[in-house]
Amino acid sequence: MQKYASINRRWWKESIIYQIYPRSFQDSNQDGVGDLRGIIQRLDYLRDLGVDIIWLSPIFKSPNDDNGYDVSDYEDIMNEFGTMADFDELLVEIKKRQMRLILDLVANHSSDEHRWFVEAKKSKDNPYRDYYIWRPQLPDNEELPNNWVSFFGGAAWELEPATQEYYLHLFTKKQPDLNWENPEVRQAIYKTMKFWLDKGVDGWRMDVIPFISKKPGLPSFPADFDGDIGRFYANGPRMHEFLQEMYQEVLSQYDVMTVGEGIGLSPETAPEVVDERRQELSMIYHFDHMALDRKTDNFYHLRPEGFSLIEFKAVFARWDAALGDYCWNSILLGNHDFPRMVSRFGNDADFRVESAKLLATLLMTMKGTPYIYQGDELGMTNTLFQNIEDFDDVQIRNYYQEWQKTGQDSQTFIAQMTGIARDHARTPMQWNNSSNAGFTEGTPWLALNPNYPSINAQQALSNPDSIYYYYQKLIALRKHNLALIYGKYTDIDPQHPHIFAYTRVGDKGEGFLIILNFGVDVIHYQIPNHLKISQLVFSNYPFIAEKNPQVLPLQAYEARVYSLG
Ligand code: GLC
Ligand code: CA
Repeated sequence: MQKYASINRRWWKESIIYQIYPRSFQDSNQDGVGDLRGIIQRLDYLRDLGVDIIWLSPIFKSPNDDNGYDVSDYEDIMNEFGTMADFDELLVEIKKRQMRLILDLVANHSSDEHRWFVEAKKSKDNPYRDYYIWRPQLPDNEELPNNWVSFFGGAAWELEPATQEYYLHLFTKKQPDLNWENPEVRQAIYKTMKFWLDKGVDGWRMDVIPFISKKPGLPSFPADFDGDIGRFYANGPRMHEFLQEMYQEVLSQYDVMTVGEGIGLSPETAPEVVDERRQELSMIYHFDHMALDRKTDNFYHLRPEGFSLIEFKAVFARWDAALGDYCWNSILLGNHDFPRMVSRFGNDADFRVESAKLLATLLMTMKGTPYIYQGDELGMTNTLFQNIEDFDDVQIRNYYQEWQKTGQDSQTFIAQMTGIARDHARTPMQWNNSSNAGFTEGTPWLALNPNYPSINAQQALSNPDSIYYYYQKLIALRKHNLALIYGKYTDIDPQHPHIFAYTRVGDKGEGFLIILNFGVDVIHYQIPNHLKISQLVFSNYPFIAEKNPQVLPLQAYEARVYSLG
């Protein structure tokens, strides 16, 4: 295999991934819900941006308790999204444009409406019973099997009335956890993976994949529990065995990529999952930087002081060091589970365009495969939630039920949820300034962000200075410079509170210096003497030649990329 900077070259390391949340991307039949034919209509837009791989959030049959992350048939298409013929056409159209497609494997849990669960709950000796995780209800005892909690509120156990046993659900009670200890479950999932790979799909994003092996015996959290549920729900003793088996039986037979949602993994444990010599997953993505604006003891509460750039930079350095030459990273700042990146890490009030471009610069010059979440290439922002009905997400709705029991008012709840709501990222794509932004002519399933008349794709495509074109040019820069893909990463100023400055240096010393001003104040930044910059190759501000190029006056959210040498 060809190497660059002592790293094995692979197509998925050199690719740009674009995540589509199909419900919100493009509606083709005016029922208010995005669909596969809608995606087909927009493929040229993605190809022109420079996208190589499209990741679709789940498109499988689902009662949509958690918008498709509750699958009731892994080998069929969700009614709202279209038919298998639509899928086949979508795949052909993607390949025609030299792009690839990865799907979302939700295999830690199924829907309770999946045939397996419908069977399993009928009786204790049903052949599918052992597909799920059951615990008896003790006589005269109201106590649950353990004190585990669901991510979406309340206990992680639900009593199933017919057989009087509890089943485990780490998400909603309509998402029962599958029992991966049962080899039949694993074979059933592998079969489903092959079904799609045989059609020509290029790999998988794997939902909460470390959860497939849990702490043996499912012990309760201790009394002095620190809140690190990963130690109980994830990364159990059989995780590597299951992943290696999956690799041997399925993945090794195709030229595909995989990316695990690395919830519960750390820089200490993740390398074992993605080290290419171990043959498990191609890469994972983690949440260490995505959690920095949250309280340490409660992921669902914002820290009033926001995130610290020093901590943010430390996360990138820590992961880069941990992964080394045999592992590969994913670089993302947003997805369908978080508020919009420009509203969190940038400044959507006064410097929306500048800060969206700055974040794009980070994504495209960091070491790892970059992920663009739909609409971030337009600088889409968080939306407004005024009433509880404005939220769609089952997580928020469930939390609200619990909140109501405490008798507190709904405005406080809304204010708290506004900072963390996943719905911010799920408002429909903003294509143009016609009604509903060209997303649908029907009634959209989730209200559009009211800023769509000014922030939309049509506007971006007609403005050469738009965020969209900035991404397009940066992607081209990255693709033409292997040093930006594989080059060694060094943070040159980890302690600076406002500047993120790093180098990417390739095989023969060729490389780049990237300087990002993460604040609103002008900073005169002194480049360390040992770095000799040669040329400004990229910037989000109009370029003015400096008299002394070792001291750079950086404007609010200014981003610069220099070649070295
Ligand atoms: C992952 C998904 C999220 C979903 C959850 C349960 O975190 O990204 O959207 O709710 O898993 O499947
Ligand atoms: Ca539709």
